[in-house]
Amino acid sequence: MRVVFLVVLTTLLLACDSVDTSINIQVEAPPRNLDTELLTAGKMVYDKHCQRCHGVEGVGSKNWQVQGPDGKYPAPPLNGAGHTWHHPKAILISVIKDGSPGGMGNMPRMRDKVNDAEIEALIAWMQSLWSEKAYQTWYRHDLAYRDNQPE
Ligand code: HEC
Repeated sequence: MRVVFLVVLTTLLLACDSVDTSINIQVEAPPRNLDTELLTAGKMVYDKHCQRCHGVEGVGSKNWQVQGPDGKYPAPPLNGAGHTWHHPKAILISVIKDGSPGGMGNMPRMRDKVNDAEIEALIAWMQSLWSEKAYQTWYRHDLAYRDNQPE
């Protein structure tokens, strides 16, 4: 997770270097998609594939900030109590599909278990659990990240 975080941080820092992110700072996120069907679908996929590691309602495993004996971190909260909201959506999708970057953590690749529509629903469900402040911060990170991707 630390690796994911560093990658994102580096990307964000690079983003600040090369583009004028000041235009984005005050941007307000559009309302979250709280469509009941979407969120119900997301929670179902979560309960089936993710809950055993990330806990009921995304609370994370106990002592998620403490490395295990293998030097890797336990599954963090996805409900906003951790720092999942620091990661742009593209990064969240890639972690879900391909697992911990470079195989350096214990998040398994899930691309054979969940399809793109299910991942959309999963992320919407996760985001419905975040505080408004976390969501707004996430939105600005995400925007800065997207602005800085090659066309
Ligand atoms: C076998 C246990 C396990 C399962 C199953 C699992 N995860 Fe994870 N997940 C982890 C671990 C461990 C990490 C921390 C990875 C690291 O340190 O690199 C993680 C990290 C993540 C992250 C990054 C969070 C952050 O704050 O950086 C996301 C997002 C995530 N998982 C989503 C999911 C979703 C969605 C599912 C179900 C489709 C899922 N995970 C299933 C163990 C699991």
